[in-house]
Amino acid sequence: MVDQKIYTASTTAPVNIAVIKYWGKRDTALNLPTNSSLSVTLSQKDLRTHTTASCSASFESDTLHLNGELQNISGPRQTACFRELRSLRAALEAADPSLPKLSTYKLHIVSENNFPTAAGLASSAAGFAALVRAIADLYELPQNPTELSRIARQGSGSACRSLFGGYVAWEQGEKIDGSDSLAVEIAPASHWPDMKAAILVVSAAKKGVSSTSGMQATVATSSLFPHRARVVVPQRMEEMIKAIKERDFETFADLTMKDSNSFHSVCLDTSPPIFYMNDVSKAAIRVVEELNRVSGRKIAAYTFDAGPNAVIYYLEKDEALVLGVLKGGLEHVPGFAVSGTAAIPEEYDAS
Ligand code: DP6
Repeated sequence: MVDQKIYTASTTAPVNIAVIKYWGKRDTALNLPTNSSLSVTLSQKDLRTHTTASCSASFESDTLHLNGELQNISGPRQTACFRELRSLRAALEAADPSLPKLSTYKLHIVSENNFPTAAGLASSAAGFAALVRAIADLYELPQNPTELSRIARQGSGSACRSLFGGYVAWEQGEKIDGSDSLAVEIAPASHWPDMKAAILVVSAAKKGVSSTSGMQATVATSSLFPHRARVVVPQRMEEMIKAIKERDFETFADLTMKDSNSFHSVCLDTSPPIFYMNDVSKAAIRVVEELNRVSGRKIAAYTFDAGPNAVIYYLEKDEALVLGVLKGGLEHVPGFAVSGTAAIPEEYDAS
């Protein structure tokens, strides 16, 4: 008898913003990085992807709709995620022949972002994390978030970190097959409940140079890059993990800002140079640096991904001061808006 049922599962995945950046691949097919990285997962209230995965014997092709638009999913990233998840499901079906053969059915995926797509706000991270979790849930796979991170990484490197809440490291790994290049939780969100983040939306336009091509150009042409990947980041990873474990905001802030600036330096050292920050971004840096100088301690930390928008980390007790100074210091700048604040310590149930 033909199985008429439509099987479905829905999930959400949050955005993560790296404080030690991933920039550079040692293997482009498997998305294996040249250095480890570390991120903070933001609140799903403000920034998240919601994804529903369905499959049925009656579906004729795999499809993905993002914000209502049909996407091209013939690329190697989506193909790798679908293939890996189907093969895990096929193993379950082989072990238990009473299970419906979902691994042979076509998939329909529907995703919605509640923030601008591809504007350097880590949309691919939340997108691939939600895609992988939704299909894993649909297939009732037993794999834990670290095991699923191996698959999400093949969709987009930074996506592997969005399978956890809180403070997450992506360990670069050493193996050639990437089986040890995985995300692990450093601390849950509840470990540091007064950590907050503000998103400064400088531009919601799609970024000029994609992360994927930008980092390839950096690896190929920057002479600063090997020093960053081999010397600077490994040391910083250790210091950052310690700062998070000890809830040492000043060190966290110092390392976050230094690493953002180091990442944008290797972008500038790329040939031709890549500029992700614009004049408004630079104005935001000046405002935060001045605020920290006048305060006599580091109370805010900026970081910028592959785009001009800033994420500012601060502690809840300093919220009025930090947001007040940012608004006051930047409101005259065209195109600038503080888009709400993302309270990080909203538990993200990755089970
Ligand atoms: C600057 O994960 O988008 O945000 O693996 O090619 O999809 P691909 O790149 P992606 O790169 C993110 C770069 C970054 C830093 C980071 O999130 O660690």
